[in-house]
Parts: sequence; C-alpha cells; structure tokens
Amino acid sequence: MESKKMKIMGFIASARKTGNTAWVVNKILECAKENGSKTERFYFNDLDIKPCQGCFGCKTGQNAGCVLRDDMRQVFAVIVDADAIILGSPLYMGQMSGQAKIFMDRLSSQFMPRFSPFYKERPKKKKLILVFTQGNPDTSMFQPYYDYTKKMLEMLEFHVELCIIAGMRNVAAGEKEDLHIEMKKIASSLTGDNL
Ligand SMILES: Cc1cc2nc3c(=O)[nH]c(=O)nc-3n(C[C@H](O)[C@H](O)[C@H](O)COP(=O)(O)O)c2cc1C
Repeated sequence: MESKKMKIMGFIASARKTGNTAWVVNKILECAKENGSKTERFYFNDLDIKPCQGCFGCKTGQNAGCVLRDDMRQVFAVIVDADAIILGSPLYMGQMSGQAKIFMDRLSSQFMPRFSPFYKERPKKKKLILVFTQGNPDTSMFQPYYDYTKKMLEMLEFHVELCIIAGMRNVAAGEKEDLHIEMKKIASSLTGDNL
C-alpha cells in the first residue's frame, strides 16, 4: 500500500538534543520520512519564543493573532501547514518543561480563539501526538497530569491522537528495543502504512 505524503512536524521542548525526548520525537519523524512523509523538527531551545504577555491583544486587537514578534510566528505558520504535529517534552517536577509551557500559552493566541471576535470553527482539527519522557519507569504515575495536558491541547483545538509516555531510569530511550518497535508502529499508523 502506498503511503500518504503527509507533512509531519516535530517540536522538542528539551534542551538535550541527544536526550530521551529528542530521541522519541526524532525516531517517529525518521520512520515517517522512510514511509514517504515530509518531516521537519524544531528545538524550542534554538528559537526565540517569549512568554505570553497576557495582553489579550490576540482577542481585542484589530487583527486576530499574537502581537509578539518572535519565532512563534514561524511556528504558527508551520503548524497551520502541517498534517500532524508531534510535541515532545520531558517531565520536570511532574509537569511539562518550561519551554513546552511557554509554547502552550502562546498557542492560545492562535488556536483557542473561541473567546475572540475572530473565532472561526476549524473544519478539521489538527492531529497531534503528545510525547512525554520521564525518569520514573512507572508510566501510570503521572497519568492524571497527562490526561489534563491532553484536555488542554483539545481546548486548543487539536485532535490528540495519542499520548506516548516513555518512562526510563538509567536507560537512554535509544537503548530501549521496545521503544524502537513502538515508534516505528506509531509512525506507520500516522502515515497510513501497513507494517
Ligand atoms: C528538573 C528535572 C525534573 C524532573 N522531574 C521528574 C519528575 O517529576 N518525574 C520523573 O519521572 N522524572 C523527572 N525528571 C527526569 C526526566 O523527566 C527524564 O530524565 C526525561 O527523560 C529527560 O528528558 P530529556 O532526556 O529529553 O531531557 C526530571 C528531570 C529534571 C532535569
């Protein structure tokens, strides 16, 4: 079966480019690319993304959208163009990383316009795969937080297709054989390929 040519964008909210989160996101992208998809990845640490200023300019200004002029403009354009996005964050103190939180807050200017006079229902919600990596090998430990994050992303009008939780202690993600197999399967289901 021929795979669909999809545009899949990965966002990595860890400073560690060879860390666990980057490994998981990059592995899905790599497999999706092998299946014929167009892929690109962004490390938030490389981008200038300022925290939300809470000015409500996105809701009350002359034009819909965030008033801040930084790399988030490029990120918005990439998300709009993508068929699916992968958002990966390490778990810090039971929550997403600071980089991921800044990104989520900034998304609200564009993707949660329900409270805005510019609101238009999107005909199709953007597909999102949420990735969390954590030190604790018990992946059920932080489940309420992951469920809550999924809900927040759905409020931001994404369709959260899957939430991947990779728990490891003293083992790098790339050394876990089960993760190699799982990410390959996830990429195939995303691009519509049969294994
Ligand atoms: C500041 C900090 C806080 C952390 N808090 C948690 C935590 O609450 N629960 C947990 O299981 N792991 C925690 N960890 C471990 C990381 O989630 C884990 O090592 C993760 O895979 C790191 O991702 P990275 O390699 O992409 O940076 C923490 C790590 C750091 C640096």
